[in-house]
Amino acid sequence: MNITRRALLKRGLLSSAGLVLAGGLASPVGLLRAAPSIVSPWVEPFQAPLPIPPVLQPVSSDTTTDYYEMTQKVGQAHILPGLITPIWGYNGIFPGPTIEARCGCRVVIRQMNELPVPVSTHLHGGIVSPENDDDPTDLIWPATSDQGARRRRQKDMQDTSLQSGMKDYIYLNNQSNATLWYHDHRMNFTGPQIYKGLAGFYLLKDELEEQLPLPTGERDIPIMIVDRIFRTDGSLFYPSLDPTLTTTPGVWEAYQNGVCGDTILVNGALQPFFEVANTRYRFRLLNASNARQFRLALSTEQPFVQVGSDGGLLPAPVSRRTIDIAQAERCDVLIDFSDYPIGTQIVLKNLWGTGRTADIMRFDVVRQEEDESVVPSQLAPLDAPDITSVEAIRAFRFLMHHDKGTINGKSFDAHRTDALLRLNASEIWELMGNGDHPIHIHNALFQVLDRDGDPPDPHECGLKDIIFLRKGECARILVRFTDYRGPYVFHCHNLEHEDMGMMSRFEVV
Ligand code: C2O
Ligand code: CU
Ligand code: CU
Repeated sequence: MNITRRALLKRGLLSSAGLVLAGGLASPVGLLRAAPSIVSPWVEPFQAPLPIPPVLQPVSSDTTTDYYEMTQKVGQAHILPGLITPIWGYNGIFPGPTIEARCGCRVVIRQMNELPVPVSTHLHGGIVSPENDDDPTDLIWPATSDQGARRRRQKDMQDTSLQSGMKDYIYLNNQSNATLWYHDHRMNFTGPQIYKGLAGFYLLKDELEEQLPLPTGERDIPIMIVDRIFRTDGSLFYPSLDPTLTTTPGVWEAYQNGVCGDTILVNGALQPFFEVANTRYRFRLLNASNARQFRLALSTEQPFVQVGSDGGLLPAPVSRRTIDIAQAERCDVLIDFSDYPIGTQIVLKNLWGTGRTADIMRFDVVRQEEDESVVPSQLAPLDAPDITSVEAIRAFRFLMHHDKGTINGKSFDAHRTDALLRLNASEIWELMGNGDHPIHIHNALFQVLDRDGDPPDPHECGLKDIIFLRKGECARILVRFTDYRGPYVFHCHNLEHEDMGMMSRFEVV
């Protein structure tokens, strides 16, 4: 338990605002990957059509800016046949609405909080100023009409940055095209809050991308994959812990790998099907799971053509029979259905899954259409990493120990700065851990230099904001913080690891 969690507990905030509402108290026993104590109701796969999250329209626009509004609230999802699943969603839906932004054009999103808990909204992969990033302790408190309660809360937290009810986030979008996503980032509760549905796509587009003959429009589809556990009444099961149990030996060990579900959802639907023409499609894959990695493959063994990763288009397309995707990673792939006769069904498999987690979704080739798309030989030019002007070399060790996640031996403390980094300086970070850790850095896109001394595979040669480390593996990345000075964080994107403190704050000076 880190200091802040303890402080929150003392103030009675953790149990009142967090745990009970985050998913209810449940037996902490049996939360291991292999043996969840609750098994989701069985549902026949490929019965639901793939939902495509609606694109949000701005409430107004001027010459420089599109203004959006979103309300975070409780919603009702129809995921299991005949049952209602209460969720927490941006505008009450899961996934939240998609934002389509243009590089270089400003976006302002007013986030309103009608949930019963504080929230914090982060644009993952965005280069944004510290006030807009959102620091995990920068909370939007639930809207309340009780002024007294609001004042007491602000006084109690002694933090003037606290806002009640809403916050405007400003994103300048001074970066290249990329599939970004937004999600909750509330300190200690990111896991349960994303699990309940607080995640959506933010697609950043530019001319470079539009000039390429890639599939567009109805053939450019965002795909958010998550795993979840459902109770028999249709509600989501997140194994929350009663904080008073944390001293009981053995309890936290059950969480060490994070929370994995036994059921796969794609864009919020259970193992859906998607009807396609016999043409090429672009799928922007995002693994928004708390703790699960996927190894994706097509049942026909046809290779994917990967064209993009976290930071946008790759320098050149890469053909891959399997795609490993860790939490929060994005993989932009093309699948060409032109060789299949009408009537063919192709399953997107998870080779690391078993039983129900082995099938993700199905593509049904149902119609014939013209296709003007081409796989370009070059995509987005990117210079090879240049290490001649590196100013600093840092090593970070990621360790889980019982209920504590640490980076270089320390758990996250919102009041401690672990490193000072110079603006625009190139640095080499050497990353290593005692388990599987997808490491994510805020406000920077980096290049992978090597893994255990070997140069990265071609699909890792684009700009990244997440790097997946296998147990004991050592990776080196070249990172540079540009645009803004101020405090940011980096952390493990296994959300339970993050919530247990595997996060660190640095300051760009
Ligand atoms: Cu995807 Cu710090 O987050
Ligand atoms: Cu992020
Ligand atoms: Cu981790």
